[in-house]
Amino acid sequence: MAPFTSSLNLIASSCCCSSSSSSLPLLLLPRPPPAKLSLLNSNRFVPSSLLRLGRHRLSPTRAASSTSVNGFPFRDNFGNDGDSRRGSLERLQAGIKLLISVLPGGSWWSLEEQEEEVGINEKKSVSSATHVLRRMWMMVADERWIIFAASAALVTAALSEISIPHFLAASIFSAQSGESMTFYRNAKLLVLLCLTSGICSGLRGCFFSIANMILVKRMRESLYSSLLFQDILFFDKEPVGDLTSRLGADCQQVSRVISGDLNMISRNFIQGMGALIYLFILSWPLAFSTLLICSALSTIMFFYGQYQKRAARLTQELTACANEVAQETLSLMRTVRVYGTENQEFGRYQEWLVKLASIASRQSFAFGFWNMGFNFLYHSTQVIAVLIGGINIMSGHITAEQLTKFLLYSEWLIYSTFWVGDNWSSLMQSIGASEKVFNLIDLLPSKQFSEEGVKLQKLFGRIDFVNVSFCYPSRLTVRTLQDINFSIRENEVVAIVGLSGSGKSTIVNLLLRLYEPINGQILVDGIPLSKLNIRWLRERIGYVGQEPRLFRMDVSSNISYGCPREISHYEVESAAKQAFAHEFIMSLPNGYATIVDDELLSGGQKQRIAIARAILRDPKILILDEATSALDAESEHYVKGVIREVSNDSRMKRTVIVIAHRFSTIQVADRIIVMDGGRIVEMGSHQELFQKDGMYARLAKRQVDAFTS
Ligand SMILES: Nc1ncnc2c1ncn2[C@@H]1O[C@H](COP(=O)(O)OP(=O)(O)OP(=O)(O)O)[C@@H](O)[C@H]1O
Ligand SMILES: [Mg+2]
Repeated sequence: MAPFTSSLNLIASSCCCSSSSSSLPLLLLPRPPPAKLSLLNSNRFVPSSLLRLGRHRLSPTRAASSTSVNGFPFRDNFGNDGDSRRGSLERLQAGIKLLISVLPGGSWWSLEEQEEEVGINEKKSVSSATHVLRRMWMMVADERWIIFAASAALVTAALSEISIPHFLAASIFSAQSGESMTFYRNAKLLVLLCLTSGICSGLRGCFFSIANMILVKRMRESLYSSLLFQDILFFDKEPVGDLTSRLGADCQQVSRVISGDLNMISRNFIQGMGALIYLFILSWPLAFSTLLICSALSTIMFFYGQYQKRAARLTQELTACANEVAQETLSLMRTVRVYGTENQEFGRYQEWLVKLASIASRQSFAFGFWNMGFNFLYHSTQVIAVLIGGINIMSGHITAEQLTKFLLYSEWLIYSTFWVGDNWSSLMQSIGASEKVFNLIDLLPSKQFSEEGVKLQKLFGRIDFVNVSFCYPSRLTVRTLQDINFSIRENEVVAIVGLSGSGKSTIVNLLLRLYEPINGQILVDGIPLSKLNIRWLRERIGYVGQEPRLFRMDVSSNISYGCPREISHYEVESAAKQAFAHEFIMSLPNGYATIVDDELLSGGQKQRIAIARAILRDPKILILDEATSALDAESEHYVKGVIREVSNDSRMKRTVIVIAHRFSTIQVADRIIVMDGGRIVEMGSHQELFQKDGMYARLAKRQVDAFTS
């Protein structure tokens, strides 16, 4: 666990450097981690080949024999070749190069390499801060009264707070000069200002937090619904870990935009402007010098904000990659355990953590430079004010009270500039994180959901494939199906057989319209599939997939999942009985109310629940893709009975497509389609094909031989 925690701590420590802990005094601001720690955790300072191997595979001898500093390899062979002077010179040169590269603008700061690695195209991401903010505004616009109330509280609180130093100084100096009336009036005003600023700050924080909660909720809703309605091929391309990372971490990052960043930027902007105007009223030469310093601060702030925005986007991508690895490994934990690849998997995850730490360390250094610049400029303002102000007091141009007020307000101005800068960079990070979320939200839903399509009065279940060819969009060069032609009559039971990878499941995928053929047409009851209302059709199809997956809910809900009508418990039970699942369900701790998921049942039990789910829909077209492959002989015999009933019982009549490797299952079919390499090579009844002595007969004989030998 140690490397995990050290890396995570480093990320956490550097992330907090950019947080907008605006209510903290400046001295309490998180400081960058010690340079030594950051350097050690940056992959620029460790050979990437070693990092890739993970901690457990690091060999001390290899680690000591070669290393690189900031991407500049240097030989650590001091004493090996005896040339100590040359060794020291090289080390000195490497040290100087390293120092130069770490200075602002140096090569160490470049993020391009990592951006390229995770596929961020800087030129392509054109969405500006205003565009993203407008999108966010549109999401909360319905509840604009909250924003208006929060803004009113913000302005009142900011103006009250900025007035306090004036009355503080005025009270002190009126007391000193014995003006008791003025003193008490100022003191009363101070109490009023304190109360107003306190109440309004509370209201401001509360209203902005509510607005923020609404924003994050709507963002997650929009993103999730956008994802749910994408084409299946979208999920072929996008890893699940990546998508859950967008929903989780990225939306969370946005959560501070309104309640943190915008709120603090507005407050500090108002107070900064107020302070500046007041300074100009007090003394314009002094105000001008302070303004110059603030401009320098704003320039640094601008570049710092831009850098943080890029770093945040990169962090977001790298986090998604790390999530993807973790998700994959944890979901395949049994395979990992059996093959003993824990260390290898740890290395894979750690590789991303090291990259994240590298970015985080740069962010920490950037924060350090920003903080350094601020502190220097802040103290410069005070020194300049005291110098110029002191001379002016001596020459009688201003009073001590004016200089005191000036010092108080210049401090206020510079702090406001700092906080605007700090929250600006935080805002840029959130905007960086939200860009990808908005890109996903903007994806158009699958065409299938926008087309209305035809709903037939009744579905008979006739299916025609006419010259259908297909290749998966992710493998455009490979024809998975080639000129497929067949017809399935109403209530006919058809089996599809063939070698693994011959395209059997792909035929079903096309019939379910999970993908569109590139050529030819699929007709259901004579109507092209693309013209039918696909939701209506899917409601009438019962499908048991090759690897049935269950939801983490009770057995009963798993069986009735997706059923378009109201279902009674009796119906669930009778479907389970037909699928030969009732007995094992009753043996579960809570029977039909037992919570199950993929891991808690055997393959055959999952198949039986999936078969019960399909039967319960009472579909007009039943598709069983290897639905009995994991069943024992007895269960298979009973499930075959379900298929047989279709042929005998007129009330149960439906079109059935069975894909199976076991010839015992196939024999119940009226007709058999034999596939090879994406083509149909034979078609006919079991008897006909057996007599033909072609591929089917060969496969059948091999299975019989395997059984008898
Ligand atoms: N989503 C996908 N993206 C790209 N290629 C795919 C996809 N699904 C399947 N394929 C490829 O299409 C070909 C046919 O796959 P299909 O699943 O239809 O075979 P199958 O006949 O059902 O095999 P099996 O009997 O093993 O289930 C295979 O080469 C497979 O690698
Ligand atoms: Mg298959």
